[in-house]
Amino acid sequence: MRVTLLEVQKFKDRGERIPMVTAYDYTSAQIADRAGVPLILVGDSLGMVVLGLTSTVPVTLDEMVHHTRAVVRGSQRALVIGDLPFLTYTNVDQAIQSAGRLMQEAGAQAVKVEGGAATAPVIERLVSLGIPVMGHIGFTPQSVNQIGTRVQGRSAEAAAQLISDALAVEAAGAFAIVLELLPTPLARTITDRLRIPTIGIGAGVGCAGQVQVWHDLLGLYSDFLPRHAQRYLNLSELIGSALLRYATDVRDGTFPTAAQSSSMDEATLREALELVERMDSTQR
Ligand code: KIV
Repeated sequence: MRVTLLEVQKFKDRGERIPMVTAYDYTSAQIADRAGVPLILVGDSLGMVVLGLTSTVPVTLDEMVHHTRAVVRGSQRALVIGDLPFLTYTNVDQAIQSAGRLMQEAGAQAVKVEGGAATAPVIERLVSLGIPVMGHIGFTPQSVNQIGTRVQGRSAEAAAQLISDALAVEAAGAFAIVLELLPTPLARTITDRLRIPTIGIGAGVGCAGQVQVWHDLLGLYSDFLPRHAQRYLNLSELIGSALLRYATDVRDGTFPTAAQSSSMDEATLREALELVERMDSTQR
C-alpha cells in the first residue's frame, strides 16, 4: 500500500518533517523506496541530470511518461509524483490530457505543476477530476529563461506575491507545494500560513519537508553542485574507481575468473569438434 495524501498531511500535522527525493529509473526508485523515503518525485530535472540538456525546457511528456513508468515499477510504498513538463499544462484541457498520461500510462499517483495564482485554475480542475497535484513556486526551473536562477522573493512586493501564490495553490486544492530558492524566513512564513505541507529546496529548514535531486545528493553529477544541495556520497568517484579496477582486470585477464564462468568436460568439447568436422566434410 502506497503512502496516501492523508498520510502526507498527517506528517505536517504531527510536525514530522517529510523527506522527498527525485528518482528517474527503476533501480533508484527501488533504493529510495527501500530506504523509506515517502515521496519520490520524477522531476523534469531529468533533462539535465539524465539527458544532458541545459535546462528542463526541452523535456517532453513522452520522456516524463517513460521515466515515471520505470520509477513506479521500482517502488511499492512511496507516493510517486510526476512532473508535468514545460508547455504541457497551458490550459485546463491540455493539462487534463497531460496529467492523464502520467497517471494512466505511467502509473503516477500525483503530478506537479509550476506556478502560483496563474496556475490555480488548472490545479483546481485536475483536483476536481481526482488527480492529486503538488504545486511549485519560487524559482520555477521551467521559467529559467525569464527569471534566471536567483533566490526569489527578496523584495517586500515579491515576497507578498509568493505568499499569495502559495495561498492560491492551496485554495485550488494542491496537497503540497514545493518552495524553491526562497529566503528561509519567507519559506517559514509560508509554511506557517498554509495547512498543506511545504517541501523546500534551497528554502531553509522551516519547511515541512525537503526535496533533493538524486544526483546532487549522491554525488553523481560531478561537475556542479548547487549551493542548496548537500552531497551525502561521492558516487562518481566510487563508480569511477570501480570502473578503473574493472578495466584493469579485463586488460590483465584477471576478470572473469572461474567463479563467473561455466565449465564443460573435455570429452564433450572434443565430440563437438568432431561433429563440426563431419558437417564441414558433408558440405564440401
Ligand atoms: O525537477 C525537479 O527535480 C524539481 C525539484 C527540484 C523540486 O522540480
